[in-house]
Amino acid sequence: MGIERCNNTEDFRRLAKRRLPAPLFHYIDGGADDEATLRRNTEAFDEVRLIPNSLADLSELDLSTTVLGEKIDWPVFLSPTGMSRLFHHDGERAVARAAEKFGTIYSLSSLSTVSIEEIGALTAGPKCFQIYIHKDRALTYEFVERCKAAKYSSLCLTVDTLVAGNRERDLVTGMVMPPKPTLSSLWSFATHWDWSFNFLLREKFRLANVATSVNAGNDSNLISVIDYINSQFDRSITWKDAEALISAWGGPFAIKGVMSVEDAIRARDAGASAIMVSNHGGRQLDGSTAPFDMLQRICDAVGGDIEIILDGGIRRGTHVLKAMAMGATACMMGRGYLYALAAGGQKGVERALQRMRDEVERDMVLMGAANLGELDRTRLQRGSPLQDAKSGSSDFSIAAE
Ligand SMILES: Cc1cc2nc3c(=O)[nH]c(=O)nc-3n(C[C@H](O)[C@H](O)[C@H](O)COP(=O)(O)O)c2cc1C
Repeated sequence: MGIERCNNTEDFRRLAKRRLPAPLFHYIDGGADDEATLRRNTEAFDEVRLIPNSLADLSELDLSTTVLGEKIDWPVFLSPTGMSRLFHHDGERAVARAAEKFGTIYSLSSLSTVSIEEIGALTAGPKCFQIYIHKDRALTYEFVERCKAAKYSSLCLTVDTLVAGNRERDLVTGMVMPPKPTLSSLWSFATHWDWSFNFLLREKFRLANVATSVNAGNDSNLISVIDYINSQFDRSITWKDAEALISAWGGPFAIKGVMSVEDAIRARDAGASAIMVSNHGGRQLDGSTAPFDMLQRICDAVGGDIEIILDGGIRRGTHVLKAMAMGATACMMGRGYLYALAAGGQKGVERALQRMRDEVERDMVLMGAANLGELDRTRLQRGSPLQDAKSGSSDFSIAAE
C-alpha cells in the first residue's frame, strides 16, 4: 500500500507501522501507562453528535480563522512534535513545507532535529516555536531571541512535561535517541532496511536547538527520551516564569497543556493570548480527562478573553467541527501528520492535510454551515437521545453542567 491508498489517519497509521522500525512507530503511537487517556482523547468526541441544518446557500465556504496572530485558511494547525528526523529523513523540513502549502501554522519543538533558524528561513508560512524550560535557564531566553530574529509569529510554553510520562512501549522497545538497535529490536531495524539506509547515510540525527548547550541525545551520549526530560527539564517553574517569558516575547503566546479551568484563568491572568487545551496526546498523566471533555467548561470560563486551541485526539474533520462548535478558536493535531510523515515524507503529510481539509470542508457543507461562526452549541447534541426525549431536555444544555 502507498500513500495514495491512505484516506484517513488510521490508514496512515497502518502504513507508518509498516515503514518504521518498531521502537520508532511505538514512540509515535504510544501513550502513558495503560493508554486510557490516549484512547479517551478521541473517544470523547463520540459522546457529542452534530445536528445539521439544510438549504443554507453553501455556494461560498469560508473555513478561515485567526489564531496566534495569524489568519489561517482552515481551523487546523500542526502541534509541535520532537525529533521528526527519526520518522523520515526530511523531518521537520517536510512538515513545515506541507503546512505552508496548506495555509496553516507549523509548530517547531524545542527538541527538533532542524534548527529554529533553518525552519525560519525555509518557508514564508506562519510558525510557532514550542518551549520546554530547561534547567539551563539561559537557553530559554536564547530561544526567545532566536525566534525573534528568525521571525516566528508566536511561542508556546509546554507546561505538562516537568517529568516524562511512563511510556512503557519505549521501555519494551529500548527507544533511545539517537536510535540504536538492541538485541530485541535488531531484527526490526534490519527488516526496515529502507528506513535504516536513510538513517545511516543521510544527515545525522541531532537535537538542533540544544546541541551546543546540552550534551545528551548525540552519538557520545545516547539517552532515552524519558531520561532526557527527567534530567534536563526544570521542575521548579511557576506562573511567574510564564509571565516573564510572555513579556520577554511580547507577541502571541500560548500556554500548552492547560487542562483545568483554574489554569485557563491563570494563563489569561498571566497575559497569555492563547491556551492549548492538551494532555500531550495522552503521553503524560494517564487517567487524566480528555481535552474535548474539558472544552465546554474552559470556554465558559475564559472564552472571549483568550484564544482556546483544542489539541489531542483529532482524527476526523467532524472532530474539528465539534470542537469549533463547542467554542474553540482552532484545533491542532500531532499524530495526524506524524503517521503520514513516516508513511511518505512531505507528500504523505500533504496528503494527510488534504484529506483532513477535505473532510472539514465537506462536513461544513453537510452541516449547512458556510463559515465557522455558524457553528455553535445549538448544533451539538450530548448524552443519550432516548433519555433526552424522555426528560424533554434540550439537545445540548450548558446549564446541565
Ligand atoms: C511523537 C510525539 C512527539 C511529541 N513531542 C512534543 C514536543 O516536543 N513538545 C510538545 O509540546 N509536545 C509534543 N508532543 C505532543 C503534541 O504536541 C500534541 O500535544 C499531541 O500529539 C496531540 O495529540 P494527537 O497526537 O492525538 O493529535 C508530541 C507528540 C508525539 C506523538
